[in-house]
Order: sequence, then structure tokens, then C-alpha cells
Amino acid sequence: MKRCAVLISGGGSNMLTLVRDMTGDHPARPVLVLSNNPDAGGLEKAASLGVPTAVVDHRPFGKDREAFENKLNEVLEATKPDIICLAGFMRVLTPVFVNRWSGRILNIHPSLLPKYPGLATHKRAIEAGDTEAGCTVHEVTDVLDGGPVIGQAKVPVLSDDTPESLAARVLTQEHRLYPMVLRRFAAGERAPVVLSMDAESPIN
Ligand code: GAR
Repeated sequence: MKRCAVLISGGGSNMLTLVRDMTGDHPARPVLVLSNNPDAGGLEKAASLGVPTAVVDHRPFGKDREAFENKLNEVLEATKPDIICLAGFMRVLTPVFVNRWSGRILNIHPSLLPKYPGLATHKRAIEAGDTEAGCTVHEVTDVLDGGPVIGQAKVPVLSDDTPESLAARVLTQEHRLYPMVLRRFAAGERAPVVLSMDAESPIN
């Protein structure tokens, strides 16, 4: 059984879909939900599902990312995770941290990477006139939002979309995609999956 830690910063809706899926024949189990934000709503939700939680507040560390990540590593290492899922974790991780957990970190990003790494993805997709948007699960490397893609889900962009309406449509698909990719990843499967709103098909 693989041990999975989930890192969050906010509401944790993706974390919840992952935690809820990790039962029965799933090859992984949640061992920790860790937040850099003491007020993250996801912490209580995880605790209510019986998952251990921890907080490493980044603010006391100021600009000292290394010290923040040392503390993060200390807490993570105590739980010996095989897989770390970033799920709305809004701190950029340094190459030192990423290389420490190389091959074991996944992230979900609300765009069809390589389009729109970074922030404000939905606004940027609308402003660019894109007709399609979506989300990506990728392995985390030292290139921001640039690691190998292991799953994408696509949604249409509608003519009257706002960043908020598009974000909501994409989030629904994040909740389908991330659990599916984690299940496969924990079983050793790295071939990318692509989901559309009405069908799913592995890429050959
Ligand atoms: C999700 O849309 C996720 O893709 C995004 O933050 C949201 C978190 O929601 N992540 C990023 O933007 C990472 N750069 P959640 O807390 O409800 O899962």
C-alpha cells in the first residue's frame, strides 16, 4: 500500500476527492494533509474524515524558502510518504525540495499545460479567445508547472464565460481527473489520460 500526503492551501476540494477515493482496492492511503495556511478550510474537512493534519505556516519564514521547506520536509519525512499530491498548494517549491521527492510529487493545475503556467489561468484563456480550457495533472519537476503531463481534462469555453464560471466548470473536471490519475500513478501507471466532458480515452 502506497502512503500519500496531500498538500493544500485552501478549501481542499481536490484533496477531498483524493482522500475519499483512497479506500478499498485503491493502491494508496492518505497519511497526512499538510497546509501552509493555518486557516485552510480543507484542514477541518480532512480531520473529519480521520486523516492526520499538520500546518507549516510559511509566513514566519519570510523570504527564507529553504527554512520553510526544511520544516516542511521534517513534517513530511515523519510520515514517510511514497507520493505527495499538491492540491491547491499555492507556494512555489524550490528545486532542492522537488529533487528531494523526485518522481513522487504530483500537482493539479487549472489549465491545459503547457498553456498558462502560473496564476489567473481562466482569465488568460478567456482573454486569448480559447474555445477549450481544462486542467492538467503533472509530475512536479524544478520547472514551474512544467513536469511530464500524466492527465488532462478538457472543457469548452462558452461565449459568456467569466473567469469564475470557467473555473467552476474546470473544477468539476479536476474532481474527476485527479483521483483517476492518482489511482493509476499509485499502481505504477504513467501513461497519460485525457478526459473530455462526455468521454474518457487513454492516449496511445
Ligand atoms: C484548484 O482549481 C487547483 O487546480 C488550483 O487551485 C484550486 C484549489 O482548489 N491550483 C493552482 O492554481 C496551483 N497553481 P481546492 O483547494 O478546492 O482543491
